[in-house]
Amino acid sequence: MQPYQKFLSEVLIPEQELQERIRELGKQISEAYTGKDLHLICILRGGVMFLTDLMRSISVPHSIDFMAISSYGAGTRQASGHVRLTMDLRDDIQGRNVVLVEDIVDSGYTLASVLGLLATRNPASLKVCTLLDKSERRETEVSLDYVGFEIPNKYVFGYGLDLDEYYRDLPFIGVVNEEKYTPPED
Ligand code: PRP
Repeated sequence: MQPYQKFLSEVLIPEQELQERIRELGKQISEAYTGKDLHLICILRGGVMFLTDLMRSISVPHSIDFMAISSYGAGTRQASGHVRLTMDLRDDIQGRNVVLVEDIVDSGYTLASVLGLLATRNPASLKVCTLLDKSERRETEVSLDYVGFEIPNKYVFGYGLDLDEYYRDLPFIGVVNEEKYTPPED
């Protein structure tokens, strides 16, 4: 038995389904950005698996960059700008067609903060591609342009999403067995 299995109650999205959907998203993005300069920005760390598969499904030339943010903690989540930039982009995005790549949009606060920040840098366009949308949990309105899967309000891990920093490597999205897994205190 693999170590992750005791924390897994069910596979929500199997590998093949994930990969098929990512290929479709890649095709849609390729069609939308044909003849345009496309710049993908991945928010570390959860979006990494998705980014690397997505970019292999995008047939138009594109560049990538990364940024990292850290949340100020649960108590401040409702304040706007609750995230702190811990690693900035390497390249300027002024005049570029940016697609922000995320693993999951939950409350929406992370995305809202990042979009607000990026908008101040005057990109030519700014769109969002998220693999997972847990819209039931939304607390602030954010506009999503490309969505892989709408998911129920379940605690998920795998394919970039961690369980206390582990299991990001799993090729599927699983639901956490909350009877077996106790999250660490904030
Ligand atoms: C996750 C995810 C999003 C954010 C979504 O990141 O990657 O960035 O939470 O939540 P929200 O919509 O409620 O703001 P996390 O802070 O877990 O960091 P990680 O990507 O390094 O795992």
